Amino acid sequence: MEILDLRHFSSVDLRPLLDEEVRVWASLLSWDYSGSADMILRYVDSKILPGYAAIDRGRIFGYAFFVYEGSKGVIGDLFVASDSRNHNAHEVESQLLTHVIETLQQSPGIHRVEAQLLVHETGGVARPFTEQGFQRHARLFMLLPLGPAARTAPPLDPEIEIRGWSEQDYQSAAAVITTAYRDHVDAEINDQYRTLSGSLRFLNNIVRFPGCGTFDPGSSFVAVHKRARSMVGLILCSRVRHDVGHVTQVCVLPEHRSHGIGVALLAATSDNLRRRNFTQLSLTVTEANTHAVELYRHLGFDTKRVFDAFVWEG
Ligand SMILES: CC(C)(COP(=O)(O)OP(=O)(O)OC[C@H]1O[C@@H](n2cnc3c(N)ncnc32)[C@H](O)[C@@H]1OP(=O)(O)O)[C@@H](O)C(=O)NCCC(=O)NCCS
Repeated sequence: MEILDLRHFSSVDLRPLLDEEVRVWASLLSWDYSGSADMILRYVDSKILPGYAAIDRGRIFGYAFFVYEGSKGVIGDLFVASDSRNHNAHEVESQLLTHVIETLQQSPGIHRVEAQLLVHETGGVARPFTEQGFQRHARLFMLLPLGPAARTAPPLDPEIEIRGWSEQDYQSAAAVITTAYRDHVDAEINDQYRTLSGSLRFLNNIVRFPGCGTFDPGSSFVAVHKRARSMVGLILCSRVRHDVGHVTQVCVLPEHRSHGIGVALLAATSDNLRRRNFTQLSLTVTEANTHAVELYRHLGFDTKRVFDAFVWEG
């Protein structure tokens, strides 16, 4: 077995492994990963995707890649085939991650590395991260079946209006996100939340790029204080399978919390998806964010997987 630079290969070499990964995402997360897989293959063909491939007799049976975002490195994916012949898949995962982590930590100008590996069970790939000084945060992948029995949300303060997301909402949404995540554990995991420009980049990634499913404006909403004409909360949803929505963001300004706005935003999204015959709604949440976890449980979301987010600051 050899670990080689991913840029020595083409999409033809990587396609069989990604086909298997698409099947794994579908069965574990009800997630159609084929759009992301196509994007990865295009980057591999352009020889611009940094990463490593595990090779056995000319065949790629594992890979990991990362991207640079300014002074931050983000580990985008790690996947090893279940039939790894004579190789211990877990050992191959560790070796790939060790290469990626070393490369990122030694890259000039890189002061931060983030990773969220959804298909890997919590603890499963933690060792190479914790050995290199990463912080680890357990996160839950939760799923709500969108059955016919919709519960009605309790009435909202009449001063608050829930309306559909529009292209004009970018700036206000970025301001709400930045304020909502001040001193929040999720701002340790994703540093984009700490600044207005970072929150705008986050929004841009979610709305314009297909990395995390395809943004679905129809099931995305904002909460507005009518008299003040200001945004006080929002929910963004993407389509991750033809009939599955995924909440990529939900937040409410601190001074408006515990008045049912979070419940109303989630109800607006799930009602919209139900009307369009979606069957499930998923989301991820940090385990330590107990208030949010309790809220989702209360609404019927079930934890399907626990995975880890890793962060290193150099
Ligand atoms: C998570 C978050 C969006 C919830 O928003 P919220 O508006 O406070 O949520 P709600 O008020 O609808 O519900 C919160 C609690 O208030 C209760 N509540 C609902 N309606 C209420 C009302 N009219 N009056 C008082 N309390 C009410 C809910 O039952 C819930 O209590 P529970 O958690 O014990 O069941 C908000 O706390 C937040 O923005 N947090 C920071 C960002 C974040 O963590 N986002 C989630 C990332 S996954």
